[in-house]
Amino acid sequence: MFIHVLGSAAGGGFPQWNCNCANCAGLRNGSINAKARTQSSIAVSSDGINWVLFNTSPDIRAQLADFEPLQPARQLRDTGISAIVLMDSQIDHTTGLLMLREGCPHDVYCTDMVLEDLSSGFPLFSMLKHWNGGLQHRPILLNKDDHTQEGSFTIPNIDGLRFHAVPLLSKAPPYSPHRNNPHVGDNIGIRIEDTRSGKNLFYSPGLGEPEPHIIKLMQRADCLLVDGTFWREDEMAFAGVGTKLAAEMGHLPQSGENGMIELLRPMKKPRKVLIHINNTNPILIEDSEQRAILNKEGIEVAYDGMDIEL
Ligand code: MLT
Ligand code: MN
Ligand code: ZN
Repeated sequence: MFIHVLGSAAGGGFPQWNCNCANCAGLRNGSINAKARTQSSIAVSSDGINWVLFNTSPDIRAQLADFEPLQPARQLRDTGISAIVLMDSQIDHTTGLLMLREGCPHDVYCTDMVLEDLSSGFPLFSMLKHWNGGLQHRPILLNKDDHTQEGSFTIPNIDGLRFHAVPLLSKAPPYSPHRNNPHVGDNIGIRIEDTRSGKNLFYSPGLGEPEPHIIKLMQRADCLLVDGTFWREDEMAFAGVGTKLAAEMGHLPQSGENGMIELLRPMKKPRKVLIHINNTNPILIEDSEQRAILNKEGIEVAYDGMDIEL
């Protein structure tokens, strides 16, 4: 399985257009050692030709321009994108669907909860009906027990990959009626298994609370691409850009007791990669003390254009 990181930043990207925090300003004026990053999304393929997009970021035009396998190659109007899987209905994960309207119809796999948000508060499914067949909803069923096939699915054209979605606790978007009233299916994690190599990836760009079924999946993964949004629980306040805590936004910070670093430490099997990094996070600075801690823990930080093969 080929995994290509199209975008590795959280909502807003890095630098964020209106942000003058130490990281964003430092990147603009060249005083820090860091790379710009677009908003998070990955593409996964078994043959390098037909790809599944996980989330569609508002930065998708730039991401497609930077990744040739997704560009038209076979006919006059064409794309390497066979299907789209949505992990939630957040703006940074879904707005790219508007930019893909010229290529409708698209097969969009998501839960009923995500379909509901994207048919009401942010009605992409209803709007895009007016573009050649629009978005074709393919329901994602959830099953905490990943040992059974129930709830797992395959995608046409994507041979040899099997997908298993699990419910997890993060947050529905601010516009959703579920923001402070969580429902199963607002946010999911996905295990992607290559049935030929037997290897599997666990992907969860938003992960607020590591419930037991999530920890089990993570332990068995060959590679983790998981929530790297914040270093600190109070990072928004610490950076002076907001008041919300990581937990209120549905993200598990890396540092601190029961943080992501402690969660990952005992996991011996998987390669550990953080994705969906917020622009305030000091791990974006490649020579920061926080980045050195991750290095010591064997935890990588995803960057735009990163390729992983499993
Ligand atoms: C989040 O996951 O909390 C988002 O990145 C926030 C946003 O998109 O505004
Ligand atoms: Mn986000
Ligand atoms: Zn910033």
